[in-house]
Amino acid sequence: MTARPVILTGDRTTGPLHLGHYAGSLQARLARQDSHDQYLLLADSQALTDNAQDIGKVRRAVIEVATDYLAVGIDPAKTTICLQSHLPALAELTVLYLNFVSVARLERNPTVKEEIRLRGFGRDILAGFLCYPAAQAADITAFKAVAVPVGADQLPMIEQTNEIVRRINAAAGRAVLPEAAAVVSEVGRLPGIDGRAKMSKSGGNAITLSASAEAIAAAVRAMYTDPGHLRATDPGRVEGNVVFTYLDAFDPDRAAVAELKARYAAGGLGDAAVKRQLEAVLQDLLAPIRARRRALAAAPDHVLAVVRAGTERAQARTEATKRELVEALGLFRL
Ligand code: TRP
Repeated sequence: MTARPVILTGDRTTGPLHLGHYAGSLQARLARQDSHDQYLLLADSQALTDNAQDIGKVRRAVIEVATDYLAVGIDPAKTTICLQSHLPALAELTVLYLNFVSVARLERNPTVKEEIRLRGFGRDILAGFLCYPAAQAADITAFKAVAVPVGADQLPMIEQTNEIVRRINAAAGRAVLPEAAAVVSEVGRLPGIDGRAKMSKSGGNAITLSASAEAIAAAVRAMYTDPGHLRATDPGRVEGNVVFTYLDAFDPDRAAVAELKARYAAGGLGDAAVKRQLEAVLQDLLAPIRARRRALAAAPDHVLAVVRAGTERAQARTEATKRELVEALGLFRL
């Protein structure tokens, strides 16, 4: 049997996962469980790089995110779920890699640059935050991942990872580390319920996977539609209308969605009717996830045991890579 390709992806542990994660990435992860050797990294160390003032949030989100993984159907017998802060090889490789990347290059990383601008960090940027692309290179290479599913905003991380890989390989005199390919999902980013481009819990425009039936109903009621569509008889705009964007993402009945769109655009279909359809779709999608989540919440030791076992497996793999690198680079070994 040929080995399945190693794929690694991660989530900063800053809060429970939401529908945006589901559409953009969790579904794809479910589909890859049999075709790939898949690792999911609970990136609590990386979460600290911009949440050190709220460590409690980062800690609580670890089990929350792990529970979300299991609730959507990630199978720990097929996918390894592991905790970043408990993989010392990742920290050690980060320190090593910092000797293979300049501060100027870190400052030029477009994603980091944009974050610095958006959040007004200026010169007060934390060293940990500036260096997180090197830490992510450590994550990716320690697992020897050849494929890394990421959002478009994370592409510069993969590029920078591969630059570090080439430098390390040059220093070692052989290809000790593989380069990684980014896997960008074809599904576009799901907008928030308010129509803003990004759904985020902190932005208050998310529907979490653990949302109650009432919370789902309220979110759909509040959802941004077409502000020019005042009466049901008016023709309405489908593009940019969040309700239709969500129907496209989650309603399996494509023909019914196409018909709703046509009627809405022509005039004669009210927002309330479209929202009723979307609410039914979302309730159907999230009810079984919520039920599994509730069962998992009643068995916290089970979730903990899954993360422990996965982290142990990941420790073995990442330690092996670190030893191999130390050897290949010719560092002193006592
Ligand atoms: N940077 C990713 C994010 O913010 C999370 C992450 C950490 C990650 N380590 C990773 C993703 C390794 C892919 C591979 O979403």
